[in-house]
Amino acid sequence: MPPNVTDPPIYHDPQIVFNETEKNHQPPTPSSAAKDVYNLNIFQSSLNQLAHILIGMTVGVILLFALRNGLPVGATPQHIILCVLGYHLLMAQAILSLSPHNGWSSRLKLVHKRRAHWILQVLGSGLALAGCFIKILDKSVHWETLHGRFALVSMVFTSVSMVNGLVSLYANELRGLRLLPSLSKLTHICFGIVGFSAASITLCYGLDKAFFRSWASDNFTTAIIVFVATFTTIIIINPFITFFNKSRILFRNN
Ligand code: HEM
Repeated sequence: MPPNVTDPPIYHDPQIVFNETEKNHQPPTPSSAAKDVYNLNIFQSSLNQLAHILIGMTVGVILLFALRNGLPVGATPQHIILCVLGYHLLMAQAILSLSPHNGWSSRLKLVHKRRAHWILQVLGSGLALAGCFIKILDKSVHWETLHGRFALVSMVFTSVSMVNGLVSLYANELRGLRLLPSLSKLTHICFGIVGFSAASITLCYGLDKAFFRSWASDNFTTAIIVFVATFTTIIIINPFITFFNKSRILFRNN
């Protein structure tokens, strides 16, 4: 045979040729640890998606309730609309925006994520606090119901969390002040978790009021309360993990 002629392939069955080629080009099989990480990521993304659906349904139903008699609305519906939009739409999104599994923010650069977070946080807290003050001014006796008392807790923690959120925003510039930036970030996360959880408990007590139950029926009200509990748990998982990781690093380094 002349030197520039190659041997013909030895396989005659095309299926065998195909299978052999596939075998040679197969990517390496992932290790079981990589598979676990992949499964955990899919699980967390699904939880995130579930939280968005539950937030949408809850906020939608409460807006329908508050607007059931049309416009203009009185002090109580104004209070309900502002509190729910502020706490459970905007502040919920503000917390979710920092989660690596959150759909709309996962592709943002860190600097843009943080910008989205503080804008949503300021808008959300502003609307929620305005909603609370509308109802406080509408009432003459205060904090005699569990709904009111939890609302007070959420107002205090939300306000404090906003202030040290500002300090956290300038944490890089304040690096010279030793522990202050790390502590302000930790307290911002901690107060944010308490403020948001207290707002969710307040919402559940609000939904438990007779006028909501008689509009929505008992079973549906229970379902919405379960929705609130579920999305609140999903939303605070990520800040909880960040809080423990950051405190571990802080105490290990000092
Ligand atoms: C996150 C959501 C909510 C927050 C933060 C919130 C906050 C508040 C605050 C601060 C007060 C005044 C408490 C006082 O002065 O003693 C109040 C009262 C009231 N809220 Fe809400 N509220 C929320 C949702 C709702 C919902 C969903 C309803 C009804 C469906 C509702 C119905 C009422 C009523 C009827 C009062 C007057 C009676 C009371 O003090 O318990 N609220 N709320």
